[in-house]
Amino acid sequence: MRLNISMPRPLQELARASFRCSGCASICAAPPSDWRCPRCGELLELTRPANWLPGSPSDWKEKWWNRRLSHLLQDQSGVWRFREAIWGGEACGAPVTLCEGNAPLYNAPRCAAWAGLENLQAKHLGMNPTGSFKDGGMTVAVSHAHALGAKIVACASTGNTSASMAGYCARAGLKCLVLVPAGKTSSSKLAQALDFGAVVCEVRTDFDGCVRLLAEVANQAGVYVVNSVNPFRLEGQKTAALEILETFGWDAPDHVLVPGGNLANASALGKGFLEMHERSLVASVPKISIVQAAGANPLVRSLRESGGRELQPLQAETLATAIRIGNPASWKRAVRVLERTGGACLDVEDWEIAEAKAQIGREGIGCEPASAAVLAGARKLASQGFIKAGERVVMILTGHALKDPDFVLRYHSGELRNLAGAPPRGSDPIEAVASQILRKLEQHA
Ligand code: F0G
Repeated sequence: MRLNISMPRPLQELARASFRCSGCASICAAPPSDWRCPRCGELLELTRPANWLPGSPSDWKEKWWNRRLSHLLQDQSGVWRFREAIWGGEACGAPVTLCEGNAPLYNAPRCAAWAGLENLQAKHLGMNPTGSFKDGGMTVAVSHAHALGAKIVACASTGNTSASMAGYCARAGLKCLVLVPAGKTSSSKLAQALDFGAVVCEVRTDFDGCVRLLAEVANQAGVYVVNSVNPFRLEGQKTAALEILETFGWDAPDHVLVPGGNLANASALGKGFLEMHERSLVASVPKISIVQAAGANPLVRSLRESGGRELQPLQAETLATAIRIGNPASWKRAVRVLERTGGACLDVEDWEIAEAKAQIGREGIGCEPASAAVLAGARKLASQGFIKAGERVVMILTGHALKDPDFVLRYHSGELRNLAGAPPRGSDPIEAVASQILRKLEQHA
């Protein structure tokens, strides 16, 4: 069936951004709805303006920092205060913003001790308006869709992209469509998308199936796709790297660990760090390491089996549903980031993720399961000597603890005990008797 939705005008007509293929380098004037090069099928990137960040690096650092004191909405956003570093940003018109970014960087001394490290910090991108790192990219992509006059915005998602897209589309007054795998998306994320007024389709397939289906729908109905293949998403997401550098006084940390699903975030962070290095705002870049769930580890396998030259899609399975992805769109970009920064790529079992997540929770920080993969990964890399004890390590926490409360309750009730070997803490109701409360307190040594 062909839907009666008008096609958005070709991007180039309205927006001054231009696009280059990351594979064959051809310039694409009007990208197709799947954001892939019409010639070779590789992902498109925004072309860099010739006069990009002219002048002295210290002037830019000062300018971006000083904007934190401004009351302008686009300065209060931790993404748009770096607007000169966002390629194609001028094509986005007035930003659709929820004051995203400026996420906290927490010390994590107990997690550090658990992982065998001395200097571990958590950049908590879950402390964004819709509770995940997706907001950093979504403000840019939805601003672009809005400036274009797109009629419908859409994504396939494991949950967070959809919550974020729905929030920003609601702000912009845009209709949006969400495709998520039925029964494999946390109810909190679904609730957000519904609350923000999205058309939510729980589809009987996995994330990779949703991506395929969306391509078909987008082709027929002319919707604006905000999956991470959208190059504007990467431009926004990369500002998390700039924030990290700023907080470290533009002296890069030694390691940054990021969970890997569709592999766009690793690519975006890599882009941010490498661009700041190229433009001499920073003297070195951190090693960016990617941590996948063992049941959803296509990049780990690709590197092991073909040195990262080919990637075999797989049937993904993990309790960290946000990264339950078997055919990641941005895998080639991620391989380049690993090569250029010297990072590692590894996988961790679900029980290791559950254990690490409980550690992050006891730090008073909390995060969703997919995010906790990075602490499990840091522990492994420290035990292998890849990360040295005294090195400065940043783990990227991608989602808020409230994104997946079922996982927490199942872990602490002992249902996931066989996964993590953890004693049940219990949340079953008890009688209203003081002695029972005191006994429970005692058990929680
Ligand atoms: N952590 C969280 C909390 C996520 O939601 C995702 C991806 C990732 C890590 C992995 O990031 O895909 O850039 O490698 N979630 C997507 C979604 C796929 O639809 O919400 P990635």
